[in-house]
Amino acid sequence: MEKKELLYEGKAKKVYTTDDPALLIVSYKDDATAFNGLKKGTISGKGAINNQMSDLLMERLEKAGIATHYVQMLSDRDTLVKRVQIVPLEVIVRNIAAGSFSKRYGVEEGRVLPSPTLELSYKNDELGDPLLNHYHALALGLCTQEELAVIERYAFAVNDFLKNFWQECGVTLVDFKLEFGRLADGTIVLADEISPDTCRLWDSATGEKLDKDRFRRDLGGTEDAYAEVMRRLRSHD
Ligand code: TMP
Repeated sequence: MEKKELLYEGKAKKVYTTDDPALLIVSYKDDATAFNGLKKGTISGKGAINNQMSDLLMERLEKAGIATHYVQMLSDRDTLVKRVQIVPLEVIVRNIAAGSFSKRYGVEEGRVLPSPTLELSYKNDELGDPLLNHYHALALGLCTQEELAVIERYAFAVNDFLKNFWQECGVTLVDFKLEFGRLADGTIVLADEISPDTCRLWDSATGEKLDKDRFRRDLGGTEDAYAEVMRRLRSHD
C-alpha cells in the first residue's frame, strides 16, 4: 500500500490517503510539542519508537477483544490504519496522581488513586483542550450516550491490559490518553497512538520518568528514556 496525498499533518504525525478509501497511512515524526504547541523540539528516534510501540500494543489489545484502527505496520515509521472519524474527546485514565490532575486538585505527584479515574477533555486546540464531563460531551454533540458507554468501557479495559503489561516490563503505568474513532458503519474503535508521548511511564524500581515529561519538564535524557521503554517492551516477548 502506497501513500497518495497528505490528508492532515498534526504535531507528531502525518496522515496520508491510499488507493483504498477505507485505509490511511499514519507516518510518525520525531517532532515534539508541549503546552499546546508553545514548546517545540525534536526527540531523535521518537517517530520510529512510537510507531512500533503503538502497533505492538494495539495488536495485543485486539487479541484482548478491544477493536482498534490498526491494520499493519508498513515500515519503522509508517502504519496502515482504518480510516475513522475521530471523536473529539481526549480520554484520560489515571492510576496515580500526576501532571494536570496534581496541579488542578493540589495532590502530590505519586499518590496512588483509590481506583482508576477517567477524565474527558474536549479535543480542541483553540480552546486548549478544556476538561469536560459526560453532560458537556452530550450537550456539545461530541458523541452519543451509547458511544460514551463503549468508550469508557474500552478505556478501563485498556488500562487493565496496559497496567499489567507494563508491570511485567518493570514499568508503572501512571496515566495515559486515548482517542477513539468511528468507522464508516459507526463502530467505535481505539485510534491515535499509545506511546511515551501519550502515557506516563515510571521505572517501577527507581521511579525514574521514562516518558514525554522528560521533554515537557526539561529533565534531559529524553531519547534514552524512549529507547529504554522500547527495550523493556521488546524484552517482554
Ligand atoms: P495531563 O496530566 O497533562 O493532563 O496528562 C495526562 C496524560 O495524557 C499524560 O499521560 C500525558 C497525556 N497527554 C497527551 O497525550 N496529550 C496531551 O496533549 C496532554 C496534555 C496529555
